[in-house]
Amino acid sequence: MTKNLFPSNFMWGGATAANQFEGGWNEGGKGVSTADMCLAGSRTTPKKLTKTILEGEYYPSHNGIDFYHRYKEDIKLFAEMGFKIFRMSIAWTRIFPNGDDVHPNEEGLQFYDEVFDELLKYGIEPLVTISHYEYPYHLSETINCWESRKMIDHYTRFAETVMNRYKNKVKYWLTLNEINAVSLESAGYVNGGMLNGDEDVVMEMKIEKEKLYQALHYMLVASAKAVKLGHAINPNFVMGNMIAYITYYPFSCHPDDVLETQRIDREVNLIAGDVQVRGEYPQFALNFFERNGFNLDITEDDLVFLKQGTIDMFTFSYYFTATMSTQEDAGEATGNFIVEGNQNPYLETSEWGWQIDAKGLRYTLNQVYGRYQLPMMVVENGLGAMDKIEEDGSIHDNYRIAYIQEHIKEMGAAISEDGVDLIGYTPWGCIDLVSASTGEMDKRYGFIYVDLDNFGKGTFDRYKKDSFTWYKQVIESNGTNL
Ligand code: BG6
Repeated sequence: MTKNLFPSNFMWGGATAANQFEGGWNEGGKGVSTADMCLAGSRTTPKKLTKTILEGEYYPSHNGIDFYHRYKEDIKLFAEMGFKIFRMSIAWTRIFPNGDDVHPNEEGLQFYDEVFDELLKYGIEPLVTISHYEYPYHLSETINCWESRKMIDHYTRFAETVMNRYKNKVKYWLTLNEINAVSLESAGYVNGGMLNGDEDVVMEMKIEKEKLYQALHYMLVASAKAVKLGHAINPNFVMGNMIAYITYYPFSCHPDDVLETQRIDREVNLIAGDVQVRGEYPQFALNFFERNGFNLDITEDDLVFLKQGTIDMFTFSYYFTATMSTQEDAGEATGNFIVEGNQNPYLETSEWGWQIDAKGLRYTLNQVYGRYQLPMMVVENGLGAMDKIEEDGSIHDNYRIAYIQEHIKEMGAAISEDGVDLIGYTPWGCIDLVSASTGEMDKRYGFIYVDLDNFGKGTFDRYKKDSFTWYKQVIESNGTNL
């Protein structure tokens, strides 16, 4: 037993997203989302979005892991682990099947009522991401999603509808998942549902930077409007953002490397974070737009909305770090197709090329808290790894336990030694689900194993991994028994 580093009301839990685990893609009046058009890829083959559903191909979101039909069983397992909070998202197309429908779909709204009721029955607080990496496909086809300013109104109506409906069941809201990721050029699945005109779209397509930052701006305005609406709907709401926090280190102490690191940190993490916390673009962002010749559609009204919709809580995902250098001999590229940068020779790397850096989490928490002084949650973190199920149904995932254990220790140090106001932790994919970047099932994060393979074959049965019992004990002891 170690000393208690976590406050007694610390919110332990787990995180998911609708398009990666719900399934039931065409049930209950649900419309087709951008995720529903994606085939699986692999670590080496990018995912592909097909413009029609192809016969005989496997689309992983269609069944997900079937949470749609099994949510009672799954929530019972979360309760058994002692979850205090559960992060999930609302499938936009369950509520507005086309995105621009006149009325919401009652059956979809009813589904989430039932899920929230089930969570609350066990005393589990829902933490709801209003939109997590899926958009009504109809909006991609008609207005190319976040390329268009019209998305602000579509999103706001969706957000208002769900916040109103669930105002007495949900207190914690996140506006848009990993909002800053839309500005990363390399990964299509984060590119705001923009199709870029191709026949079928390979998910490593490149969209011009200007368009990506324009989309980011529209998203930031939409997010601010949702925050403002949320506060009006229920003053007790805690409205959060969600940033894909990619912490970069200088590869060397060469001052050029340090400046290069500062540059990328600003472009990837800080523009979005600063706007959401402070309600205005930092000067370095405006200079960056100008230097690159971006002619962004930012109106005076937008700037007013940004000011009015600042967040109450800062949340982020944290998986890995990368290094930046201006030198030729700075080693290999990250091996992670989502981010720029080089590998860190001092760190181990996961099977999917993501570098494991628990101390980097403590550093990141301090950086963010030092900048914003807001309550924080780590709403995604974990190790995507292959698991082996033994004949007796056991899964010995000691590597996952080791990963999470180290990260929890660092969070504890950030709270107790550094004074960071961290209020919750929801490790990613607490139950195995479909990978966002590759569409695989093999890249598993869960405490709960789901019998399903990369091709959609399996019984969908759930099994407890060793990490299940371990995490239960962590929660029970409030982080002291690691
Ligand atoms: C985050 C996303 O970027 O990382 C999740 O918000 C995603 O949707 C998670 O699943 C892990 O990434 P991956 O590609 O391993 O599923």
